[in-house]
Amino acid sequence: MKISVIGTGYVGTVSAACFAELGHEVICVDIDPSKIDMLNRGVPPIYEDGLSELLEKHVGKNLSATSNYDYAINNSDVSFICVGTPSDNEGNIDLDIVKAASASLGKALRKKKEYHVIVVKSTVVPETTEKVILPIIEKESGKSTGNFGISMNPEFLREGKAVHDFMNPDKIVVGSLDKRSGDIVASLYSGLNCEVTRTNPRTAEMIKYVNNSFLATKISFSNEVGNICKELGIDTYEVMKAVGKDFRIGPHFLNSGAGFGGSCFPKDVKALIGKAKEVGYEPALLRSVIAVNEIQPMRMITLLKNKIPDLKGKKIAVLGLAFKNDTDDIRESRSIPVIKELIEEGAIVSAYDKMAIENMRRIFPDIEYYNSAIDALRGADACLIMTEWNEFKSLDTEFSIMKNRLIIDGRHMQSPRKDVDYVGLCW
Ligand code: UDX
Repeated sequence: MKISVIGTGYVGTVSAACFAELGHEVICVDIDPSKIDMLNRGVPPIYEDGLSELLEKHVGKNLSATSNYDYAINNSDVSFICVGTPSDNEGNIDLDIVKAASASLGKALRKKKEYHVIVVKSTVVPETTEKVILPIIEKESGKSTGNFGISMNPEFLREGKAVHDFMNPDKIVVGSLDKRSGDIVASLYSGLNCEVTRTNPRTAEMIKYVNNSFLATKISFSNEVGNICKELGIDTYEVMKAVGKDFRIGPHFLNSGAGFGGSCFPKDVKALIGKAKEVGYEPALLRSVIAVNEIQPMRMITLLKNKIPDLKGKKIAVLGLAFKNDTDDIRESRSIPVIKELIEEGAIVSAYDKMAIENMRRIFPDIEYYNSAIDALRGADACLIMTEWNEFKSLDTEFSIMKNRLIIDGRHMQSPRKDVDYVGLCW
C-alpha cells in the first residue's frame, strides 16, 4: 500500500520507517526542510534505537520525504497524521498543529479524485477526530466522508524503544466511522503478528489516554506508597516486588522514585483532566496522579535539606538530566524542578548526563556541566541521582572524590554502603 506520513517526530519517523519495513511505499511530509533533507539522506532527525538502520535500508527505495502535500497525497492511498499535540498553559491539549495539518491534507485532497484514507495517529482527546479533524477535512476538500475515509489509530511507542514497540505491539487499535477505511488501516499491519482491535474513533482516542494515564497512575501510586514506606523504614521495592506477583497487577511500572517525565505521561494525564472537566466531571484521581508527581522532586530537596539545612554556596552534583535513561529528551524531566529549587536555595549545581546536557543547558545556561559523573562529583557536598542511567548503578570509588559523601538516590540506582551517607527517596 502507498502511505504518506504527516509529521517527522519520533512517532512519524518511526511509523514511516516501520511501514517501509513492512513492505509499504512511504512518503514522509514535514514543513521543516532540514528534517526533509536529513530523511532523504537517510539521517534520522531524532535518536531511536534501530531507526538509522531502517532508514539506510529503505530511503531511496520505498521511503522518501517531501514538504509537498499535493505530491504526497496524490502518490499515496492512506495518510497518517503524526504531528505533535502539546499542552497549552492550562495543561489542556493544544490542537493547533493537528488543525493545520488537517487543513493542508484537506486542500490536497480537493485535487484528488480517487478514494483516500486519513488516519489520526497523533494523541488527541476523545471526540477530536469526529468533531475537529473531520469537519476541517470536509471543508478544505469540499468532500464528505464516503468520498474519503477517516480512522483513528493510536500509538503506544516508548521513546528510545519506539522501533521495537512498533514491530512488536501487544495491541493495535483502529477506530473508524466506516468499515472500508477501518479494513484498509488494519490491513497495513498484516505483517505483524498482532490482533487488531476494531472500534470507533472516540473509543480509540480514549484507549490511548487511559493506557498512558493508568501507567502514570501505577507510578504515582508506587510513589505515594514509597513516601509512606520511607517514614516507616520500609523499602518500597521490596513491597512492590511482592505486590507485582499478583497476576492482576503485574511487576511493571511499580518503580517508585523521582516521578515520571517525558512528552507523554504528564501531557496526556493533564489533557484527560481537561477533557473530563469540559464534559462536567471533576477527575479527583487523575488530579492526584499529577499532584504526587509534582511532590516527588521536592521530596529529594527535603531529604537533602534534612542533612544540609542551608544549601547556600554548597556544591550539589545532579546526576541525570534526561527524563529517563537512553534518551537526550528532558521534557518534563524531574531534574528540572530539582535544579530550579537548588538554584533558588543558592546552591552551586554541577550536572552530568550522558546525552542530555546540551538540551538542559538551554534551560539552565548558568550551572556547571561536566562530561563525566566523577567530574561532577569532584568536591561536591552532596549528590542527587535523578535519572535511571545504568552507569549510575556502578558508581563506587567515584564518591570518594566528593567533599561530603552524601547520596540522595531518586532512582534506586545505588544501595546503602559504609563509606557514604546514603539516603533512598522511597526506600
Ligand atoms: C510512555 C509510554 O510508556 C508509551 O506507551 C507512550 O506511547 C508514551 O509514553 P515514554 O514516555 O517514552 O513512554 O517513557 P516510559 O518508559 O514509559 O517512562 C515514562 C516515565 O516514567 C520516565 O520518566 C520514567 O523514569 C518513569 N517511570 C517509569 C517511573 O518513574 N517508574 C516506573 O516504574 C516506570
